[in-house]
Amino acid sequence: MWLSGGRMASVGRQSFGSCFRVLGRRGCNTAAVMPEAAGFEGVSDRSDLQDFSVCSSDSFWAAVARQRLSWIRPFHTVQDCDLSQGRIRWFEGGKLNVSVNCLDRHVHTCPERVAVIWERDEPKSEVKLSYRQLLEMTCRLGNLLRRRGVKKGDCVTIYMPPCPLAVASMLACARIGAAHNVVFAGFSADALAERIRDAQSSTVITVNQGVRGGKVIELKKTVDAAIQSCPTVQQVFVAMRTENPVVMTAKDVAMEEYVFSYHDGDVFSCVADIGWITGHSYSVYGPLANGGTTVLFESTPIYPDPGRYWEMVQRLKINQFYGAPTAIRLLLKYGDKWVHKYDRSTLKTLGSVGEPINTEAWEWYHRVVGQGRCPVVDTWWQTETGGICIAPRPADPDAEIVPGMAMRPFFGIKPVLMDTEGKVVTSNDTSGALCIAQPWPGMARTIHNDPQRFTETYCQPYPGYFFTGDGAYRSKEGYYQITGRLDDVINVSGHRIGTAEIEDVLNQCSAVAESAVIGFSHSIKGQGIYAFVVLKKSIDVQEADVTRQINDMASKKIAKYACPDYIQFAQRLPKTRSGKIMRRVLRKVVDSELEGLGDLSTLDDPEVVQEIIQGHHDLL
Ligand code: WTA
Repeated sequence: MWLSGGRMASVGRQSFGSCFRVLGRRGCNTAAVMPEAAGFEGVSDRSDLQDFSVCSSDSFWAAVARQRLSWIRPFHTVQDCDLSQGRIRWFEGGKLNVSVNCLDRHVHTCPERVAVIWERDEPKSEVKLSYRQLLEMTCRLGNLLRRRGVKKGDCVTIYMPPCPLAVASMLACARIGAAHNVVFAGFSADALAERIRDAQSSTVITVNQGVRGGKVIELKKTVDAAIQSCPTVQQVFVAMRTENPVVMTAKDVAMEEYVFSYHDGDVFSCVADIGWITGHSYSVYGPLANGGTTVLFESTPIYPDPGRYWEMVQRLKINQFYGAPTAIRLLLKYGDKWVHKYDRSTLKTLGSVGEPINTEAWEWYHRVVGQGRCPVVDTWWQTETGGICIAPRPADPDAEIVPGMAMRPFFGIKPVLMDTEGKVVTSNDTSGALCIAQPWPGMARTIHNDPQRFTETYCQPYPGYFFTGDGAYRSKEGYYQITGRLDDVINVSGHRIGTAEIEDVLNQCSAVAESAVIGFSHSIKGQGIYAFVVLKKSIDVQEADVTRQINDMASKKIAKYACPDYIQFAQRLPKTRSGKIMRRVLRKVVDSELEGLGDLSTLDDPEVVQEIIQGHHDLL
């Protein structure tokens, strides 16, 4: 599945590709400790396997695909890809059903294993669903959709918070050959309408109301408003998340709720929303395809209090916890006591994703949450890559981990750095544009209805390579550290610097909980540095002292030019519900372009924007 690589595929017997070298450790009984590597002749450990997966990519993926998946019809060609043309085709001739792979396979072997734990917004009211129950729910839904005219190739829009029915809806679509368009349930009616039109959906699945952080969210009403401008929509399935009735129209179809049961098992918890890729890959498809038990988190990290995650870890006996740096920084602000209150002894691995995790947050996650015994794996990937591409320990469960670094490529991934002339940088201790040198099965193949844009964005910037849009540093030892989106680079007096690098330094100041740095147009320097800083709640300090400390650290750790021109102290930062800081909003505020703030419906709390505007005003 993922994280520290403990459950990688057991693969079929293959011989080496020509470029492969045997790097095995002497005297190691690899078959016993590394069953997954044992299938390849001569591969003696996971580090060999990593080399093999890149050098003999076709053999590797063919074997993994045959071993780990059930095929309705086997593939005849492993891949036919040409990154320079934007042509990405995997497993040609093959046919499989992803819902069968996520459910039926496990129902045959372990029907009563818990597939999903739904951590509802209401604390301590979790609901558990076995693989058998999830399959039943999925089949019933699939039949319902089919009876109601949904056909292979149709695209169904799902507008629901994370809940078992949302997962069953995704899998039911996959089962009957329909595509699903999961729209994050925080989106506004306009944003939803745009996505329904884009998908040309005739069917929408939603719930009457959502509940998050104790607040009721009128999802059905939002759907009603959205479909006013979506002529394709013929029917809306409405499940009841709360007991409050909603107005039903001629298009609406009511759905029933189900019975659940409990069984022990390994519990995997990715607290992302299913409307984002992290939720797709690591709350739904990844855990289920691997027969794991997955937790669906409906709430927020601070509801009813900042101990929510850890209380949940204790209650649900969670083994792997996968979250976002922004939430970690938020919780760090509230101090250690909320963590210490709960038993976290079941935790084995802590994951991080979505943005660079600054050193301080990493240390806190490791030392306080993981009691210094759980590895923290900073995983780098993106929607376009489908799954994790760089993580600290894919090939060696005991490998050294450097805080704040994603570090090593995952199986089959060959990262490269490009210089400003578009040439591959071969040396270490250097930075560049992060590309991936060869295709892998999980990658995006195109953009729906816009294949040209796919080729232009990802394939043309560095012909023959997949361009990620991120910058990265490769250390002396060859480890990768993501420095942020390349368009988040600013140029101060001719010095190009990633805003993430400055933020990392600011966040190391003892009183700083988190920060966001943006560039603004400066008559002398070209661009100046504007820093938004949130202080820790548990520390009592003067802003002037923090300012002094920030300037000292920025000049010491980077250079004098990295000292912010302005520091705005804020209570909190504008963030999407997936935890990404909305830099666009901050930039507009600083540039005084308040009319152009754009769509704010993904903001976790829109009131933050007013606070930021006021603070900016006060500062100037
Ligand atoms: C950023 C989320 C640093 C990166 C899975 C990427 C990261 C974008 C990390 C994708 C990480 C993700 N360290 N930056 N560990 N993980 N990113 O599509 O800029 O929502 O390109 O996918 O998030 O965001 P997306």
